[in-house]
Amino acid sequence: MMHHIVESQQFNRKNIGDIFALADTLEHTRDQSLTGKIMASLFYEPSTRTRFSFESAMLRLGGSVITTENAKEFSSVSKGETLEDSIRIVNTYVDIIVLRHDEEGASKRASLVSQVPIINAGDGTGQHPTQALLDLYTIQRELGKIDGIHIAFVGDLKHGRTIRSLSYLLGNFNNITIDFVSPEGLRVGDDIKLYLTEHGVTFHETEDLDALKEKIDVLYQTRIQKERFTSTEEYQKFKGCYQINREFADSMKTQSIIMHPLPRVDEILPEVDASPHAVYFKQAHYGLLIRMALLKHILTA
Ligand code: CP
Repeated sequence: MMHHIVESQQFNRKNIGDIFALADTLEHTRDQSLTGKIMASLFYEPSTRTRFSFESAMLRLGGSVITTENAKEFSSVSKGETLEDSIRIVNTYVDIIVLRHDEEGASKRASLVSQVPIINAGDGTGQHPTQALLDLYTIQRELGKIDGIHIAFVGDLKHGRTIRSLSYLLGNFNNITIDFVSPEGLRVGDDIKLYLTEHGVTFHETEDLDALKEKIDVLYQTRIQKERFTSTEEYQKFKGCYQINREFADSMKTQSIIMHPLPRVDEILPEVDASPHAVYFKQAHYGLLIRMALLKHILTA
């Protein structure tokens, strides 16, 4: 049973399976299982999917929500309050805190002072473990398996916390092959490569996406994260570097899927949305089920 959810390394096949089994039962659920429980969504960085899906999940289970969507401006952080003090205070008002922050390690810091569970909803370029769970759930639902898959992570792998968290989760499964597809300046971190090596996951780094299109089961596209670059000039060097169009989607093998954590900018053209390979909007819906399952799992223990 988990208290805080800070990083993907907390998960193993058993607890992933338990959460997925619970999520499978929640498709049309609106119940009162969390009546009386209060969730704070404390967001220091913008969000559409994560904040609204957690809030919708809590409301569908009969719980209540208090929220700040721009905590840097609308909370007492703007007066100089530390994250730790904010967490200590919010602890006295709620039963669980969903935290998004721009600094890597923020959720870990929060968990060290919090009596109520902290859920990491994305910490800078660090991790986004609940996104990774919904990504893995999408693969399970759409392909019917996780063991044995060949996945290509594409785009900004230097700043992308979702690919980091999903790589850690994939370390629990068998016969996984990962291709990290990016320009040299946006490569995945050495910590991920070390972890995958230690966990027997086969991986390669390449700039050539075309060579993979008929081999992969999952194309996991990511946005070039403009907000993480130190200058516009640096961002412009990489903008538009891998763009998925309908012709590319049509050339992928049957039953392969195209995923994206969203938001997208121009890295998947709208013409791909109607492709049978495109599952990124379903992926966002699966996030609601996973977050309902996590809230139930943590708050009804
Ligand atoms: N995928 C994801 O984290 O989206 P948001 O930034 O909209 O929450």
